[in-house]
Amino acid sequence: MPSGNDFIKDPAKRHVRPEGNPGGDFPYVQLNFDDSSWEKINLPHDWAIKGPFQIGPNPEVGGGMGRLPVNGVAWYRKKLDISVSDAGKSIFLDVDGAMSYAIVWLNGQLVGGWPYGYNSFRLDLTPFIKFGGENQLAFRVDNPNHSARWYPGAGLYRNVWLTKTNPVHVGQWGTTVTTKDISKTSATINLAITIDNDSKTDATIEAVTEIYALDAEGKSTGKAVIRFATLKSKVIAGESVKLETSVILRNPKLWGPPPTQQPNLYATVTTLLQSGKSIDTYETRFGIRSLEFNPDKGIFVNNERIFLKGVNQHHDLGALGAAFNIRAAERQLEILREMGCNAIRFAHNPPAPELLELTDRMGFLVIDEIFDSWERKKTPHDFHLIFPEWSEPDTRAFVRRDRNCPSVIIWSFGNEVGEQYTDEAGAAVAKRLYDFVKEEDPTRPTTIAMNYAKSDMPLPLVPDVIGLNYQGEGIRQSLEFEGTERIRTAPQYDIFHAKFPNKVIISTETASAFSSRGIYLFPVSKEISSPVRDGRGGDSKICQVSSYELYAVDFGSSVDKVFGSLERHPFVAGEFVWNGFDYLGEPTPYYEARSSYSGMIDLAGFKKDRFYLYQSHWHPELPMVQILPHWNWPERVGEVTPVHVFTSGDEAELFLNGKSLGKKKKEEYEYRLRWDDVVYQPGELKVVAYKNGQKWTEEVVKTSGEAFALKATADRNDISADGKDLSFITVQITDKDGLMVPRTNNRIEFSIEGPGEIVATDNGDSYNLESFSSHQRDAFNGLALVIIRSESGKPGKITVKAKSGSLKETRIEILSK
Ligand code: GAL
Repeated sequence: MPSGNDFIKDPAKRHVRPEGNPGGDFPYVQLNFDDSSWEKINLPHDWAIKGPFQIGPNPEVGGGMGRLPVNGVAWYRKKLDISVSDAGKSIFLDVDGAMSYAIVWLNGQLVGGWPYGYNSFRLDLTPFIKFGGENQLAFRVDNPNHSARWYPGAGLYRNVWLTKTNPVHVGQWGTTVTTKDISKTSATINLAITIDNDSKTDATIEAVTEIYALDAEGKSTGKAVIRFATLKSKVIAGESVKLETSVILRNPKLWGPPPTQQPNLYATVTTLLQSGKSIDTYETRFGIRSLEFNPDKGIFVNNERIFLKGVNQHHDLGALGAAFNIRAAERQLEILREMGCNAIRFAHNPPAPELLELTDRMGFLVIDEIFDSWERKKTPHDFHLIFPEWSEPDTRAFVRRDRNCPSVIIWSFGNEVGEQYTDEAGAAVAKRLYDFVKEEDPTRPTTIAMNYAKSDMPLPLVPDVIGLNYQGEGIRQSLEFEGTERIRTAPQYDIFHAKFPNKVIISTETASAFSSRGIYLFPVSKEISSPVRDGRGGDSKICQVSSYELYAVDFGSSVDKVFGSLERHPFVAGEFVWNGFDYLGEPTPYYEARSSYSGMIDLAGFKKDRFYLYQSHWHPELPMVQILPHWNWPERVGEVTPVHVFTSGDEAELFLNGKSLGKKKKEEYEYRLRWDDVVYQPGELKVVAYKNGQKWTEEVVKTSGEAFALKATADRNDISADGKDLSFITVQITDKDGLMVPRTNNRIEFSIEGPGEIVATDNGDSYNLESFSSHQRDAFNGLALVIIRSESGKPGKITVKAKSGSLKETRIEILSK
C-alpha cells in the first residue's frame, strides 16, 4: 500500500498501489450490502475484550495474549454523508490506530491501509468521495494469532476522524515547534510549518501564527501571548512548502514535572490566509522546557535534577481492553502519581494520542517507544514480517506525530530486540532506525532497551542513552542458576558507565516482581529477593503469588534489591519498573491465567502492597505506613506469621494487642522493616512510625469479623453525560463494623438504573476467567470493581446496586451532568 509514502525518503523505495481495485467486488465494501444484522458499535472499540476467555490447557489464543479471542478478521462499515458544499475540499480519514493490517475502501474503491496496529495514519478519501450523497466506508482489520507477547486488542480500538480541509492546508502533523535558549526570563521558539496544496492551481498564501497559554484542561486562555512574523509563500499545485520562523518569548511559563515544577503548556495557532481570507487553522500544543542529559548526574529538567521514578505501561485498560478511553487512562495516571511516579515508558509501542495529551497536561516524563521486534521475531506473526517495507514509514510517522509533546523526553526504537545477538549486523539495523528518528527529530535523545547486549558489543554504540533491562542489578546471579543456559549477567551499571562515560544510563526495566493482591503465602523468604517457586512465594495450584513483595521473575529482582542497587549507582538517571498496572496477557509465572502479576496495581486498579513500597521511597515527604499481611489467620494461631512494614519514616515500633514487639530502624540500603518472628494471635496490629526521631504516622490492622455487608465507593460521583465518561465503583465486603474482610470471595451481582450502563466488572485476580462484560463477579480478597459509563446527552441520576446472598446490599448514586 502506498499509504506510508510520505514517510519514505527515497522515491525508489516507495510502495506501489496494487493493480486494479483489489477487494472492489467484495460484498462488504458495496453501498447496497445489507448490514442491518451487523452489531452497532461506537468507537473506540475492541472486539475481543468481551471474550469469552479461552479456558483449558490448549487454548487457541494462549495466556500470553490474554486467552481472549483476538485473532481473525473483522469488518467495520459506516455511511458518510458528504454534502455538495464540500466539493473541492480535501477529505481525509485520520486513524489513531487500528489493530491490525487495516485496509479501507470507499464506495467500493480501495483507498489504502496500514499494517502496524499501534501507529496513527491518514488516508486521502478525496478521489473516491461522492459529494452530495451517501458514501460507504468499509474497513477490514485482520489480527493474526501469535502476533504479540501480550494482549494486543482488536479492531478500531482508537479514535477515527473525518478531517475536511481546504485543498491548501497545513499538512498532516505539519508543524514542528522546538524551543531553545530557555531561562525563566526568555525562550526562543522555532516553528516550521508544512503546507500542502492538493489543488490543481498554484496558491499564494500567508501564514499567521499566534501563541496562546493553555490552562490545566488544555484549553487556551486569554489573548495571544505573542505572534510570529507573517510568512508568505507560493505553494505550487500538487506540492508542499516548508516555512520556518521564530520568536523570543519573554518570561515563559516553563513545562516541568510536579511536585517541584508545573506542566505549563502553550499552543501555536496557525491561520492560513489566501487573498486575505482564512482557509485553514491548525493548533499545536507544546511546552517550553530545557533538558540536559548528564552521564554522571542524570537528567535535568529546567536545571533541576529529576530522578526518573518511572513505570512501564502496556496499552490495555484492564477490563475495558484496548479500546481507548480518556478517563480510564487518566485514572491510571492519577493512581501512579499518588505513588510518587513521575515517568512512563510506553511499552513497547506508541500510545493513543490522547494519552500523550494527558502526560503533557499532568507533567509525566515519557519514553515513547515503537518496536518490540525488528527483523528477528519474538512471536511468529509480529512486526518482523513487515519490517523490510514498513520500518521506515512506521518509525518516521511515530516521531512526526509525537515530536511536539513536551512530556516525551526520549525516543526508544527497540525493546530487547533479537538484533542484540547479531553484533555488527544488528547494530547496522539499529543505525538505520536511529537515523530515521534523528532526521525527524534532532532535538531528543534515543534509546534501545537492552537485556542482553553488553558494553563491548556494537549495539550500545548506536543509541544516545543506554537503556538497560534488569542488567543493572544483574540477572540470575543466585547459585541456583549456575550452569543454566539462560542469560546470566553480573551487575552492569559500573561496566557500562566506564565504557560509555558520555552516555546517560537509564534502567528501562527493573524488578518484574510478582504478587497477587491480598494473597500471603508461608513460609516467607529470608532473602530480600527470590525467584518465585512453589513453596517460595508461589502456589501453582491456585495460580497466585505472595504479597510479601520479595518475589520476582527469574531474571528480575525484588523492589528492595533494585532500590539498593540504584542508590549505590547515583549516576543512573532513574528506573522504569516492570510494571505499573497489571495488563492483559503475559501472566508469568502462571500461563493458565489471563493477566500479569508484575503490576504494582492490579488489573482492576486496586493497589497491591508493592504500591506502598514504592510510595514509601518515591514519595518520602508523605507520612505513610503500610502493614502486611492482613490479620485474619484463624488457622495460624500460635504460628510464626511475619509482619512487614513499608513506611516513608525511618523507624517504627510494632504492637500486637497492645504489647510492643520492638522498635526497628532502617539500615542503609534497607527499604522495609520486618518482624519475622511474630506469633499470630487475632486482634490488633499497630505500628507507630518515626522520622528523624519524631513521630511520623501510625496505622492499625485488625482481625475482622464475619462478612456482613457490601460497601460501595466511587472514584468520581459526578461524571459528564457524554457517553464516554466513566465512574469506577469499588465494592468491599465488610464486617458489622465496616472493616474489610480480607479473605472473602463472595459472588456479587450488580445492577444499574438511570442513564448509564455497566461496561465491565473485574476483581483484579489474574486467574479470574469470567468475561469482563458479566454483571456478576466473585470478589477477590474482599474487593470487586464495576465500571459504569454515562449515556450521551442524557443527564440524570444513575443508581448502581450490588448484592451478594445474605450480605447487606449496597447502592451508590452517580450524577451524570
Ligand atoms: C521483559 C520484557 C517485557 C516483559 C517483561 C516481563 O523482558 O521487555 O516486555 O516481557 O520482561 O517480565
